[in-house]
Order: sequence, then structure tokens, then C-alpha cells
Amino acid sequence: MQSKVTEIASNVYRISTFHPDFGLQFNQFLLDDDEPFLMHTGMKKMFATTLEGVASVLDPTKLRWIGFSHFESDECGALNDWLKIAPASQAVCSSVGAMVSVNDFADRPARPLADGEVLPTGRHRLRFLATPHVPHCWDAGLFFEETERILLCSDLLYHPGDPEPLTSGDVLARARDAIAQNLSGPLANDMPYTPYTDATLRRLAGLQPKTLALMHGSSYQGDGGAALGGLADVLRESLGGRASS
Ligand SMILES: [Fe+2]
Ligand SMILES: [Fe+2]
Repeated sequence: MQSKVTEIASNVYRISTFHPDFGLQFNQFLLDDDEPFLMHTGMKKMFATTLEGVASVLDPTKLRWIGFSHFESDECGALNDWLKIAPASQAVCSSVGAMVSVNDFADRPARPLADGEVLPTGRHRLRFLATPHVPHCWDAGLFFEETERILLCSDLLYHPGDPEPLTSGDVLARARDAIAQNLSGPLANDMPYTPYTDATLRRLAGLQPKTLALMHGSSYQGDGGAALGGLADVLRESLGGRASS
């Protein structure tokens, strides 16, 4: 496996590794800033590949922040490898994530962030949004980069395959197909539909992101608010009815 590195916005790099066993891309996002920030560590077993990608942009030992949405292996499985290689680095995640999982799993304690708290990294400002159960897991949260208006949106809008790094095409249609294909099978029910789902997605849409940085699939450049609002509609139609049946 090899990673592909693409600058999707000024000093924001997408490090993408396609894993044939999953038929999915695993994408990390690196903000090259005074305090370099990496979104998602990638899986532990993919660490060497991810490291190579990061090293093509900056000295990995200088990483300062390691962010992720929720406690799953693709989000933070390689966290301890990064903590080891970058001595000043620290995980940054939701307060729930730090308390429930990360501070037990990780070799150094995480910095917990409250909903709406801002993490400045130099030229960039990352606003943390607590999004419980969106895309999934109680501890979920997302980061919104306010300078370039990039939402680091984890599994939201995921789509399979090894598509182009950045598209202005119909990412919602791709996500709709992926959701429809995943209503049954071993990895079904990846996204719960809770009393908070719709309001959380509408709140994210209200940020009006210009870029959506997806963990699995192409990043999207365009009207991010419309794409997220559309996703809220798709989920209500495809999953919302199931909640009451
Ligand atoms: Fe996930
Ligand atoms: Fe994921």
C-alpha cells in the first residue's frame, strides 16, 4: 500500500491510502501550521504508510496535535505510534472520548475539548463540535477549520472505491448510493438515527463549509451546507422511518 498526498486547500494535505480488503480509502488530513495538526491517525497496521505520507509534507516528529472524531481503529488506532514518534504531540478529542476511552488507551493523556471550543494552530483555527452519535459513537465530534471553511467530517458522506482526491461533483449522490448499499450485510447499521441526528447535521450545514474533508472518499469542494442538508434528508428518508418501525 502507498499513500497519495494532495494539497486540497492552502497548507491542508489529504493523505489517502486505498485498502483493497475494505474497498475503501482511509484519508488523513494534515494541517501544516505552526502547531501541525493531523486529523485521524489511520489504523495501527497502516502506520508506516501514513507516516510516509506525512513525512512527504513535514517532519513527523514536529506534529503537535492529533485529532479524531471517535474511538475506532481507523480514527485513532495508530495514536500511540504517533505519540511515540512526535514527543510534543497530544491527542485532542471530545471530553467524552478522553474520559471513556482515550485516556485509558493512550500513552499520554488527551486534551479534551468542549463543544464550540477553538484550538488555534497558528494561521488556522479549529472549532470543535461535539456531535454525539454523528456519524456514530457517543464520543463523536468534528473539527471545523474556520480560516478556509473546511469541515473535517470523518465518516459523513463516505463512499467506497478509490476516487479522485477532490471533486466538485455530486458527492451527495455517491453517499446516497453507499448508504443504500449498506442497509444489509456484515457492516450494516453503521450510522444510528437518533433524536439528535437531524439537528446535528443541520447545525453542521449552517457552518456553510466550502470544503468537506471526508475520511472515506473524495473531498468535496462546493456548497458544503447543501450537501450536509441533503445528507440529513437522505438519512431521515432511509433511516428515520426505521427508528419508529
Ligand atoms: Fe467511524
Ligand atoms: Fe472511518
